[in-house]
Amino acid sequence: MAALRSIDLAITSGIDLTQTLSMILDYTRNHLAVDAASVLLLNLQNQRLEFAAGAGFWTAALQHTQLQIGEGLAGQAVQKRRVVHVPNLKTRKTDLLRSPFFGRENFMEYYAIPLIAKGEVLGVLEIFHRSTLSADQHWTNFLHTLAGQAAIAIDSAMMFKNLQYTNDELTLAYDKTIEGWSRALDLRDKETEHHTRRVTDLTLRLAQRMNIPDSELTHIRRGAILHDIGKVAMPDGILFKPGPLTDEEWVIMRRHPLIAVEILKPISYLIPALPIPRSHHEKWDGSGYPNGLAGEGIPLAARLFAFADVYDALTSDRPYRRAWSQAAALEYIRENSGTHLDPNIVSLFIRMMTE
Ligand code: C2E
Ligand code: SIN
Ligand code: SIN
Ligand code: FE
Ligand code: FE
Repeated sequence: MAALRSIDLAITSGIDLTQTLSMILDYTRNHLAVDAASVLLLNLQNQRLEFAAGAGFWTAALQHTQLQIGEGLAGQAVQKRRVVHVPNLKTRKTDLLRSPFFGRENFMEYYAIPLIAKGEVLGVLEIFHRSTLSADQHWTNFLHTLAGQAAIAIDSAMMFKNLQYTNDELTLAYDKTIEGWSRALDLRDKETEHHTRRVTDLTLRLAQRMNIPDSELTHIRRGAILHDIGKVAMPDGILFKPGPLTDEEWVIMRRHPLIAVEILKPISYLIPALPIPRSHHEKWDGSGYPNGLAGEGIPLAARLFAFADVYDALTSDRPYRRAWSQAAALEYIRENSGTHLDPNIVSLFIRMMTE
C-alpha cells in the first residue's frame, strides 16, 4: 500500500515520466523480489516499442531495444494484449539473444505485461530474474497492480504533453489574430504599413534595456501591436484629414484609447496588455489623455511605448504633414523630456537610437 501511495503521489505531482517509471521499477524489484525490470513505450509515430527505463541490469543490453508490434516476447505481449511468461529463457531461442550482451545478463525467468490505459496499449513492463521465481497469487496481483500504475503514469504524462501542445497552439493562434486586427488598421491608414511592427520592435528593445522581465514583454508586445486599435472607430474625415483637427474633431480623436479598452477588455488574456492602448497618450506633466495621469502614475509600459510612437509618427509621412528627419525627431524628444516624455528614460532612448 505504501509503495502504491508513493507512486500515486509521483503521478499526480507531475514528476517527469522517466523519473516516475524508474520509481515504479525500483518498487517492482524490491516488492516482487525480481532481479531486473524495464519499461518499453509504444512510439505512436513509428509504432515501435522503445526502451524507456530499466533497473537491475548488469549491461546496457536492452537499452537500444526497438521492437515492432508482434516482434519478440514484448511485441507479442502488446499484440495479444496478454502476459507473456517464459519460465526458462535459457532453453528458448528468443529475439532477446539478438542483443550481443544479453547472454551475460544470465537471465532465466521472464514476464512481459502489456501496459493498458483506457483501452489503449501504451507499452510493456518486462520482468527478468536470474533464477526461478516462485509466483503465488499475491505476487501476481501485485505485479498487475504495478503494471496498472505504470500505465496510468504514462497516460497522464502523455495527456499533459498534449495539453501543453494545445496551449502553445492556442497562444500562437491568438497572437496571429491580434496581428490580423492591427494589419487591418494599418491597411486602412494606407501610409506606413509597417508602423505597428516598428513601434512594437522599438518598444521591446527599450523594455529589454530596462531589464523588464520576459513575462512582461509578452504583454508589452501585444499592447504595442494593439495600441491604436481604437482608431477603427475614427471617421475617415478625421483620420485622413490633410490639415490640423478642429476642437470638435479632437474630442472624437481623443476617444481612441478608451475605445481600444472597450474593444479589448472582454478578452481576458489581453487584460495585462491594456496599459499601452489605454495610456499611450498620457504625458509626464499630466496634460495628456484620456485620464490626465502624470509621472510614474502612468504605467511604465505606456511611458516606454510613447517614445516609440512619437518617434515613429514624427519620422513617417502623415496626411497632415511630411516625415521629419531622425535628428529633428530626436531633438523633439529631448525638448519634450519632463513635459510629454519620462525624463528618466530620454537619454536611454536617444542612446539606443543613435548607437
Ligand atoms: P499619430 O499621427 O500616429 O501620432 C501619434 C503621436 O505622435 C501624437 O499623439 C503626437 O504625440 C505625436 N505626433 C505625431 N505627429 C506630430 C507632429 O506633427 N507634431 C507633434 N508635436 N507631435 C506629433 P496625438 O497628438 O495625441 O495625436 C493622436 C493621433 O491624432 C495621431 O496619431 C493622428 O492620427 C491624429 N492627429 C494628430 N494631429 C493631427 C492633425 O493635425 N491632423 C490630423 N488629421 N490628425 C491628427
Ligand atoms: C497607424 O496606425 O499607422 C498610425 C497610428 C499611430 O501612429 O499612432
Ligand atoms: C519606473 O519608473 O518604474 C522606472 C522607469 C523610470 O525611470 O521611469
Ligand atoms: Fe494613439
Ligand atoms: Fe501609433
